[in-house]
Amino acid sequence: MKLEGKSILITGANRGIGKSLISQALDKGVSKVYGTCRIPGSLNFINDDRLVELVMEVRDIESIKKAREKVSSLDILINNAGVLHNIPILTSEDKLINAQEEIEVNYLGPLNVCNMFWPLLVKNKNNEEKGVIVNVMSTLAKVTYPFCGTYCASKHATLALTRGLRAQLSDFNVDVLEAYPGLTDTDMTEGLDHLPKVSPLKVAKKIMSAIENNDSEVYVGDDSIEMAQQILTDPEGAQKEANQYMPDPLTSS
Ligand SMILES: NC(=O)c1ccc[n+]([C@@H]2O[C@H](COP(=O)([O-])OP(=O)(O)OC[C@H]3O[C@@H](n4cnc5c(N)ncnc54)[C@H](OP(=O)(O)O)[C@@H]3O)[C@@H](O)[C@H]2O)c1
Repeated sequence: MKLEGKSILITGANRGIGKSLISQALDKGVSKVYGTCRIPGSLNFINDDRLVELVMEVRDIESIKKAREKVSSLDILINNAGVLHNIPILTSEDKLINAQEEIEVNYLGPLNVCNMFWPLLVKNKNNEEKGVIVNVMSTLAKVTYPFCGTYCASKHATLALTRGLRAQLSDFNVDVLEAYPGLTDTDMTEGLDHLPKVSPLKVAKKIMSAIENNDSEVYVGDDSIEMAQQILTDPEGAQKEANQYMPDPLTSS
């Protein structure tokens, strides 16, 4: 698929991977980029007539609806907004609210955004062009790291959502791309500076290339590529390896 002349919507576009996705989309010659953010004015860092800022809280259906009213046509939707709280499955009661946020943002967010926007992505069947949905996931959608078990659960849910989407949209000329960035140098991974990270720009470039190549999956970064390979060849071994990353020891009292 050619990106030139297309319109694209990117959620969580004010920082991290989303911010790089905006600059890459503009570089590729898209005609319009709808970038979503929660605080108005957060996309002022880019001065380009093709950029339209939409205010969207992905946990709020009314907010998604209002954003939808401002979009007249769309070729590509990228569900990028996400949140990570580093909470294990067994945790204190007051941290469970953060686990709820992970499910609401990482799973229910894309679910609601897709339900609102998919009709815009449907192209004429005789037309060679397709619509595309990209869900930004993680190999943590396929293995569970105990120190952030609730985030992994939310991303596993997003993988199920993505597969369901692909099945339901196959008759509508809409492709679905699963994007699996490895550890990426954004606010989300602050404090993990001892580990190798890829740049958000590299992630954005690979996602744009995968859209151009009509791929159904894209893995970015050695950690993501290696984990994906191990999940294919030795899923139990992959989970065992992830089990080394435990949270603080549990106390039963
Ligand atoms: N960084 C990594 O290592 C890594 C690896 C694999 C996958 N991913 C995935 O990549 C995506 C982007 O992550 P990132 O690293 O760029 O994270 P980031 O720098 O923390 O940015 C997260 C983005 O999501 C937005 N967001 C969070 N909650 C939202 C909500 N309720 N409604 C609307 N927008 C919301 C944030 O907006 P605010 O500024 O308003 O909070 C921000 O724009 C996520 O889905 C993440 O799970 C990241």
